[in-house]
Amino acid sequence: MARPIIEPFRIKMVEPIRMTTSAERARMLSAARYNLFAVRAEDVIVDLLTDSGTGAMSAEQWAAMMRGDESYAGARSWFRFEETARSLTGMPFVFPAHQGRAAERILCSVMGLPGKVVLSNGLFDTTRANVEAAGARGIDLCAPDALDAHRTFGGGFDVPALSRALSEHGSRVAFVVATVTNNTVGGQAVSLENLRATAAACRRAGVPIMLDACRFAENAWAVRRDEPGERGRPLLSIAREMFDLCDGFTMSAKKDAIVNIGGIFGVRDAGLAARIREELVRTEGFPTYGGLAGRDLEAVAQGLHEVLDESYLEYRFAASAYLARELEAAGWPVIRPVAAHAVYVDAGAALAHLAPDDLPGQTLVCAMYLAGGVRTCEIGNLMFGSGSERKQLVRFALPRRVYTQSHVDFVGAVAKDVAAVARKLPAMKIVEEPASLRHFTAAMAPAGPFPDL
Ligand code: F0G
Repeated sequence: MARPIIEPFRIKMVEPIRMTTSAERARMLSAARYNLFAVRAEDVIVDLLTDSGTGAMSAEQWAAMMRGDESYAGARSWFRFEETARSLTGMPFVFPAHQGRAAERILCSVMGLPGKVVLSNGLFDTTRANVEAAGARGIDLCAPDALDAHRTFGGGFDVPALSRALSEHGSRVAFVVATVTNNTVGGQAVSLENLRATAAACRRAGVPIMLDACRFAENAWAVRRDEPGERGRPLLSIAREMFDLCDGFTMSAKKDAIVNIGGIFGVRDAGLAARIREELVRTEGFPTYGGLAGRDLEAVAQGLHEVLDESYLEYRFAASAYLARELEAAGWPVIRPVAAHAVYVDAGAALAHLAPDDLPGQTLVCAMYLAGGVRTCEIGNLMFGSGSERKQLVRFALPRRVYTQSHVDFVGAVAKDVAAVARKLPAMKIVEEPASLRHFTAAMAPAGPFPDL
């Protein structure tokens, strides 16, 4: 009999979860004005808001932190970080930053963006915001049916569209960003074949290609598991090829370096590296710490070694697949193939009585919280604005090494209870919103009462 894939770790430090009643949650949600970002983490039972910075560090990472060298310049911890990042990515120049978006901002500031365009398979919101703040326009070029087609690698570029855009925009293309895995397109993976074709198109056009490598290890596992010709190939070699195809990278270490804070970036070009170093000193810190403590650099270096562990990645994919099955069993349509870092539910399809501007995703987010204190994140018209053609999704993100199977069973049970009253769930209305990135701080209200949950 096939044996279950288990969590490949033991727990030796725990953090209590405070159980709440549905009456308490109704009060807290109303006080948070129906925005889950305004709910206290202590008032959440299972927190699936994000996989970013929420992972559990290993004993080795904590031990490494104790060895952190806090010297201002040339710390031992920096050399360990540099050596690890260089040997993983093959980039001759690597830098620390306090998180991914700081690396993005610095990269954008040295790439001469005013009046240019940046092409991508899917710019993450902070990447797009940094591209735009630097004076360029971000254009996404994944396949238009990527969320419906159930392709094994749905996250890649639409390569013919990329080639057309490269010739149409010509010298106005500042660079291309390949995001692996593609968080804004259901977290789907990108095949090596697609990355190779993308890189070849960029080389022909003389345009640099940058890897958004947040979830490089999860992408490498998907390649090894599903890509013909790559099955069984060592993960490190797959990961290395992903970096080899690119001219530079940015990475939020809060994802696949399994730390609570940190970022890494790197380039091959010495001239670009010199400009980055200047900008790093001006805004993040001296290049041998870049906005991080020496202990953080240690934790990142250790995390980069741990994340390519096969049993860890096997468990990681098994966990999200299990959550997807639970949500489907509850009756919710799930985007397939299932990503490693999250399961995306199509709330627009599930709550068909609500129009996109009724914010069905946010309705589902609120219902999951009311019914069981489960915190998830809307990725639809609340996040992207009214009138977008996007699907109305809810992301159930899985923090790394934090929850066990029974937590997921609990989420499945809560989802079933919500599904039982799906047709009675009310629309959500925005009552107050900021000028940009509104999903973080907007205040909302239900158009009618929520049914008993
Ligand atoms: N790129 C991608 C693909 C991301 O998913 C994120 C963050 C970033 C860049 C920015 O990194 O947070 O360290 O500044 N994603 C988080 C999420 C916030 O919830 O998906 P950061």
